[in-house]
Amino acid sequence: MVKILKKEMLTASVCRIQVLAPHIATAAKPGNFVVVIPTEDAERIPLTIADRDLDKGTISIIFQVVGATTRLLCSLKEGDQIAHVLGPLGHPSDVENFGTVVVIGGGVGIAEIYPMVKSLKQAGNKVITIIGARCEDLLIYKKELAAQSGELKVTTDDGSCGRKGFVSDELKDMIDSGMKINRVIAVGPVPMMKVCCDVTQPHKIKTIVSLNPIMLDATGMCGVCRVTVAGKTKFACVDGPEFDGHEVDFKELTDRLRAYKDLEKKADEHVCKLLGIKE
Ligand SMILES: Cc1cc2nc3c(=O)[nH]c(=O)nc-3n(C[C@H](O)[C@H](O)[C@H](O)COP(=O)(O)OP(=O)(O)OC[C@H]3O[C@@H](n4cnc5c(N)ncnc54)[C@H](O)[C@@H]3O)c2cc1C
Ligand code: FES
Repeated sequence: MVKILKKEMLTASVCRIQVLAPHIATAAKPGNFVVVIPTEDAERIPLTIADRDLDKGTISIIFQVVGATTRLLCSLKEGDQIAHVLGPLGHPSDVENFGTVVVIGGGVGIAEIYPMVKSLKQAGNKVITIIGARCEDLLIYKKELAAQSGELKVTTDDGSCGRKGFVSDELKDMIDSGMKINRVIAVGPVPMMKVCCDVTQPHKIKTIVSLNPIMLDATGMCGVCRVTVAGKTKFACVDGPEFDGHEVDFKELTDRLRAYKDLEKKADEHVCKLLGIKE
């Protein structure tokens, strides 16, 4: 059992939870994730460790409510216990002094880039961060990322904050302006990561993406999280979740993420009924 010390809604559908998990906090590195099982009979879901506090022995996770298990997790309150939090899992992010790094976060991916931006800055990089969301209300971590980045660019689809357009538009303009970029890191929805890779590929700028396939055991045993990278099968939970985006088969990933849509809808309806929520 893992106690929820703090819970807050960052937007109507994005929740931040801080839990007491001293062993995970001590071992966690940027890019690691945990598997969370909200209640004993719930499913397991992978969530990135968004931050940690070594003094308090806590980790924070930030998640968007998209279905049954995230809804169940979001229904827990401060002081409640989460049945299981397992981790840290996955390969940590590759952090060294690359030079100029553009780090891109889309939607809830914005929270996932926060530990990367912090550690890349500490490693001596010039970090330019681009964040994007559908509208201003969905933009999270603006202040926190501005404090850690050399420069912060903001885009919204509807123009309610920053530039009207997509994160990839901002990236393209930077490249077209002749800026020397040594590495791009993109975390967010699959179509966003793919477009960022399409923008950087002709310029041969190494682009790292953090893949989010469905996961089950998250220990490399079940094969559910398999993705194709450079023509080879990889398990995102143990070989990733970060990969060279120019080598990823995004179409296969998109198709596999859609495979259980009907069952996911039914499970969410069931949880809504249990929680007395009318969707
Ligand atoms: C390594 C890793 C780290 C992650 N970190 C975070 C995080 O920090 N914060 C966060 O909000 N989410 C994160 N995710 C995604 C998160 O695990 C899923 O949103 C969650 O499993 C959905 O569970 P559910 O039962 O609520 O919804 P489901 O019923 O499983 O899905 C509901 C809807 O969400 C879509 N969906 C399901 N799984 C994913 C997925 N992995 N990525 C994108 N869409 C999905 C489905 O297609 C469906 O439309 C991460 C995924 C991975 C693999
Ligand atoms: S989730 Fe089972 S092998 Fe990765």
